[in-house]
Order: sequence, then structure tokens, then C-alpha cells
Amino acid sequence: MIEVTAADVCFVHVLDETGRRLVLAGGTPPFDELAGTIELAVGEGVAGWVALHGEPAVVEDKWNDPRYRYFPELRGENYASLLSVPMISRPGHLVGVLNVHSESRRHFSPDKVSLVGHVANLMAGAVENARLYTRLAEREEAVERFAQHTLELQEAERQRLAAEIHDGISQRIVSLHYHLCAAAETLPPESAQVATQISAARDLAAAALDEARSAIGGLRPPLLDDLGLGACLRGLARDLPPGISSDVEVDTSDLDAHVETAIYRMAQEALQNVVKHAKASHVRIELRSLPHVVQVLVVDDGVGFAPEAVVGQPGGTRYGLTGMQARADLVGAELRLDSTPGKGTRVSITVPVSEPLRP
Ligand SMILES: Nc1ncnc2c1ncn2[C@@H]1O[C@H](COP(=O)(O)OP(=O)(O)O)[C@@H](O)[C@H]1O
Ligand SMILES: [Mg+2]
Repeated sequence: MIEVTAADVCFVHVLDETGRRLVLAGGTPPFDELAGTIELAVGEGVAGWVALHGEPAVVEDKWNDPRYRYFPELRGENYASLLSVPMISRPGHLVGVLNVHSESRRHFSPDKVSLVGHVANLMAGAVENARLYTRLAEREEAVERFAQHTLELQEAERQRLAAEIHDGISQRIVSLHYHLCAAAETLPPESAQVATQISAARDLAAAALDEARSAIGGLRPPLLDDLGLGACLRGLARDLPPGISSDVEVDTSDLDAHVETAIYRMAQEALQNVVKHAKASHVRIELRSLPHVVQVLVVDDGVGFAPEAVVGQPGGTRYGLTGMQARADLVGAELRLDSTPGKGTRVSITVPVSEPLRP
């Protein structure tokens, strides 16, 4: 700037977040060291005037200009004339003010004013981009923290539920079963009908206990930290009922803990759906580490369904697929359901491997 204008020093004052103050953001050495330490209110000094009016100021004799404000740190006594131009990134959007000062007294020509104005506007665009990048990176980080927190809360809630079922419902079913057994033993031999009823009640209690146990099993936190996602997916395959065979192929993956938890829970729900709805004989589970993404697939050979008739339907009470979608959104994963009635179902979860956003 000082070369093209044949001036001696140049300062960049950037408008702060409040839009009310200009902060010195840079300058010709040695003044660059003062960055961040000098502030002007909008309306104060020549730069403040320029910020307020959005138009350049050409000041030939600053000591006779009422707008001028003296800063000892900027050694105002050494400079006689200045040109001050607004830095505008897009119409109506002031980013800051650029000043050039000359030691000797001179008049900046309209050509120079226009040239400096153009450069100032280019700089304004760059400053604004840098700020947007920073804000975006901060937001990205905030979303990440939110996702992590939400998933941790969900896991804590599941653990609480598992404990409640285990210590409450399951214990009571166990003692119910015990009392029924005791009652059956004290029955006189002629009460065959009562014995049949008690036996049926006992079977129901046993079935209820099994269900409670499997609910606890589903709620239990996966040992992701110890075993890794791949091994935990193998574990899910092992828990499939005997009628469904499986093959599992897993790469190692390196994802944030909360993202692994989310993927695990999604895969778990997909497999529960296979067991509950698909009437499948085989299911394939894959964990693939690809460049930039990790993909998990759950593919069954069952009856299939029409996903569009289920997902995103208002008033639906099913939480499985909706919950999967919510988890996917939370960690920035893409959930795809490919299914045709009669043709089996393919659930694919693709999550980007996070590369932090940099300006
Ligand atoms: N793998 C699958 N095979 C066949 N049908 C499925 C499969 N996954 C989901 N579905 C269908 O989608 C519906 C919604 O699933 P979901 O939201 O998990 O609820 P829920 O499992 O509680 O019924 C299921 O009721 C079922 O009809
Ligand atoms: Mg389900």
C-alpha cells in the first residue's frame, strides 16, 4: 500500500463484533506490534468518521482537520497528510477502515483514492472470509460437543433403565416365579386344574424374565472402549437367534467415542429389526474404513418393506428407524435404507472421518 501510494505508513482498523469500535488490526512495522491495543469509537477520529459515513476522507493538513485525533503511540506528530478509506466487503457491509499516512504534506489524488479503495475492499473480503471460517469452526465444535453430550446422556439413561429393570422388575419376577413353584409343591394331588394354571403362570413368569434380561442386554453399554467397534459388531452378530446365520467383515476404524456409540446403537437397532420383522435367514454385517468415511452395512435377505411408508411419517409411534435417523443427524452420518418388499433390506450408515475445519 505504501509503495503504490508513495506514502510512509499504513494502518488497518477493523470493526469489532459490536460494530461500534474500530480496533487497530495491523500496520506497517513497527506499528504492527500495536495490533489489538488501539481502539477508536465509530465517529471518533478520521477513521471513525470514515466508518460512520462509509466514504473516503482525504486530509491534506490533519492539524487543521477537526476530525483528526492524535495517538502518541502511532507517532501522529511524524505525519502530515492522510488518506482514509472504508473497507467494504459487499454493499452496506463495512469491515473496517484503511489509512495511509505520509510524512510530507500532500494531496492524495482521486486516482489514488480509488486505487486504495479497491485494495481496501479486497482486504475486507479476506477479513470477512477469515471471520466466517472462524465462526463456522466454532459452530462445528459446538455441534460436536452437543452431539457428544446428548449421546452420553442417552447412554446414561439407558444404563439407569437397565439397572431399574434388573433391580426392580426382574427381581420381582424371580420371586413371583419362586412363589408359584412353592404353591405348586403344596398342591394336593387332586387339584390338577389349579396345577395347570400355576404351571402356565410359571411359564409366563419365566418368559417375562427372559424378555427383561434381553431388554437389559440391549440397553447395556457396549464395551467400545475396550473392544472397539468391530468386535462389538461381532458381538451383536453372535447374539442373533439361532435361526439367522450371519457373516461379519470388519476393518479397524478410528472414530470419536461418541460417534462409535451412535453407530453401534444404529447397527443394534437395524439388527433388532432384522430379528423382529425381516423373517430373514441370513444377515451380513460390514464395517468398512474408506478414505474420508467409515461405512457400516447391515444387509438381510428377509421380506423387506417400503421405507418411505415408515420413515418420516407424521404421527408414527415407532421410534426405531426415527431414532436411528436422529442419531445419524446428531453425528453427521448419512443413513440409507434400501428395501423392496420381498427383496430384503440394506441399511447403510456412512459417517465422515472428522478432519477439523481450518481457515
Ligand atoms: N429389516 C427389516 N425388514 C423388514 N421390515 C423392516 C425392517 N426394518 C424395519 N422394518 C419395518 O419398518 C417398521 C418400523 O421399524 P422401526 O421404526 O424400527 O419400529 P419397530 O421396530 O418398533 O416396529 C417395522 O415395523 C417394520 O415393518
Ligand atoms: Mg425397530
